[in-house]
Amino acid sequence: MSPVKSQLLTLSRETMAGLLQQRPHAAVACLLLLLLCYLTGGLSIPDPRQREALIQLEASMQTGGQMVLTDAEQRLDALLFKMKREEMAMADFPPAMHFFKARSLIRTSPIFQLLQKMPKGGALHVHDFAMASVEWLVKNATYRPHCYMCVTDNQSIRFIFSSRWPKALPHCSPWTLLETLRAKMVNTTELDNSIMGNLTLFTDQDPETVYPSQDFIWGRFEQCFLALWGLVTYAPVFRDYYYQGLTEFYTDNVMYLELRVLLPEIYELDGSTHDTAWTLKTYRDVTRQFTAEHPDFYGTRFIFTIHRGVNSSVMTGAVEQAMKLQKDFPDIIAGFDMVGREDSGRPLWYFRDALSLPVERGVALPFFFHAGETDLEGTEVDQNMLDALLLNTSRIGHGFALVRHPVAKGLSRKRGVAMEVCPISNQVMKLVKDLRNHPAAALLAENHPLVISSDDPGMFGASGLSYDFYEAFVGFGGIKSNIGTIKQLAINSIRYSSFTPKQQEEVLALWQRKWDTFVSENAP
Ligand SMILES: *[C@@H]1O[C@H](CO)[C@@H](O)[C@H](O)[C@H]1NC(C)=O
Ligand SMILES: *[C@@H]1O[C@H](CO)[C@@H](O)[C@H](O)[C@H]1NC(C)=O
Ligand SMILES: *[C@@H]1O[C@H](CO)[C@@H](O)[C@H](O)[C@H]1NC(C)=O
Ligand SMILES: *[C@@H]1O[C@H](CO)[C@@H](O)[C@H](O)[C@H]1NC(C)=O
Ligand SMILES: *[C@@H]1O[C@H](CO)[C@@H](O)[C@H](O)[C@H]1NC(C)=O
Ligand SMILES: *[C@@H]1O[C@H](CO)[C@@H](O)[C@H](O)[C@H]1NC(C)=O
Ligand SMILES: [Zn+2]
Repeated sequence: MSPVKSQLLTLSRETMAGLLQQRPHAAVACLLLLLLCYLTGGLSIPDPRQREALIQLEASMQTGGQMVLTDAEQRLDALLFKMKREEMAMADFPPAMHFFKARSLIRTSPIFQLLQKMPKGGALHVHDFAMASVEWLVKNATYRPHCYMCVTDNQSIRFIFSSRWPKALPHCSPWTLLETLRAKMVNTTELDNSIMGNLTLFTDQDPETVYPSQDFIWGRFEQCFLALWGLVTYAPVFRDYYYQGLTEFYTDNVMYLELRVLLPEIYELDGSTHDTAWTLKTYRDVTRQFTAEHPDFYGTRFIFTIHRGVNSSVMTGAVEQAMKLQKDFPDIIAGFDMVGREDSGRPLWYFRDALSLPVERGVALPFFFHAGETDLEGTEVDQNMLDALLLNTSRIGHGFALVRHPVAKGLSRKRGVAMEVCPISNQVMKLVKDLRNHPAAALLAENHPLVISSDDPGMFGASGLSYDFYEAFVGFGGIKSNIGTIKQLAINSIRYSSFTPKQQEEVLALWQRKWDTFVSENAP
């Protein structure tokens, strides 16, 4: 045995671990050397110490892998590890199942219950009209006076609040006043359930049978939005729905939101309407009221969005409007994005003129583009991630296809452009079946910039952020994701938020206090 080889082999596990903490690159080089020794040296059984060093090296590369844990955190980690082992041994392992079937199991999971209590930082990818539970919409909004409903030709429903009998809608039955209808019924459970079924994708039936294809589920998704539109754009419901959404996230220990909003025209009982500025002001006022009542909630910032189905002249108008809103409401407007299915909408490149306007005019309008929410590899839509990066996007919504694009992946890593990973959304919308196979597993394994979010919890029968944290931590995080991982994910949600560095320090300090309390209250 050569001297250098024996010297290398005596590298203790501790030395290697220490090296990993401080100088990961040196550790990699060192390990490669060790490997080389073996290849040339012809030892038949690999050294277990080396094996351990390799395992340690990989563990140190994952999200949170460099985190130095306190004693209490280590004790909580040991508990989580034990719980995860037990959960993985169950016959019905929730992340391997469709969320609609797994939800009741997840609710009983002790890991989930811990994650609910965990301060998760911010939710950076959530949409305005899917942020709160549909139970609330049915039990509260549709029970208000002056609420009319009609049934469309293809068995969806529409709503309107009106002080007078409203004008009939095309392709819809005559309006029914729900108050009158319910007064005639002995039991309204069935009606309420059928309304609920129209406002959410969640179903008790077999989801694979109910939603046979991506096209089908996207069609239903759009019908759900049309169904709830008349409820949530009615001014009093609009306010209360947002307040309810804030309550659900706050209760789930989320302290900050970045909400993608359409800012539609909002109507009153007499049919009069309010403009975009009114809508944004209302969001601001309700947020202020909420934070006054819950001082440890840090607030909401808004990403103005428009449907990607529009043409380029409408897009130009929307970008101009976004710049104006940002100028008028600099504290709460975070930037701009597009919504709607990428596969059937127009690609980012089609809108390049409109999207270059801010730079041309010297206006800093941050972008938060949805991109890579597709499994159509190599299509024009599949270019969206690279185009988003070309357009200097601040984060990428989903980035489901990122691992298949080494250049986009490299650029996003280098520039710190985080992926907003929404596991349940990707599963429900049929991009992945078993959440252990979500592509973010690979991103988590190498600490790629990413945050976990919930996209449209109301649509998926979820609430807040904990269900998605569960799927990430227990599902694609595998047994090796640990307390450092979820701590880092919470920190990421602040680091990759649209806050200024100074605000980030403030939120981080607030979060750290909550985290310490969480750990001390739950560590065995
Ligand atoms: C709906 O919720 C609001 C706000 O919490 C409450 O004031 C109102 O009484 C509720 N209405 C119904 C019909 O439940
Ligand atoms: C339902 O009907 C509407 C309007 O009549 C139509 O635009 C839509 O495509 C239909 N949806 C489905 C899923 O058939
Ligand atoms: C109303 O009907 C549902 C089923 O449709 C039933 O489960 C429930 O018990 C009924 N409620 C009352 C008060 O009868
Ligand atoms: C939507 O509502 C209509 C009318 O009440 C009903 O026939 C239909 O079954 C509902 N759809 C779902 C998915 O619940
Ligand atoms: C773009 O769409 C708008 C709204 O649908 C329409 O009024 C306008 O004519 C369209 N412009 C072009 C150039 O097609
Ligand atoms: C993106 O940023 C680069 C470097 O700061 C700049 O040169 C370029 O003009 C920007 N492009 C767009 C479309 O914002
Ligand atoms: Zn989204």
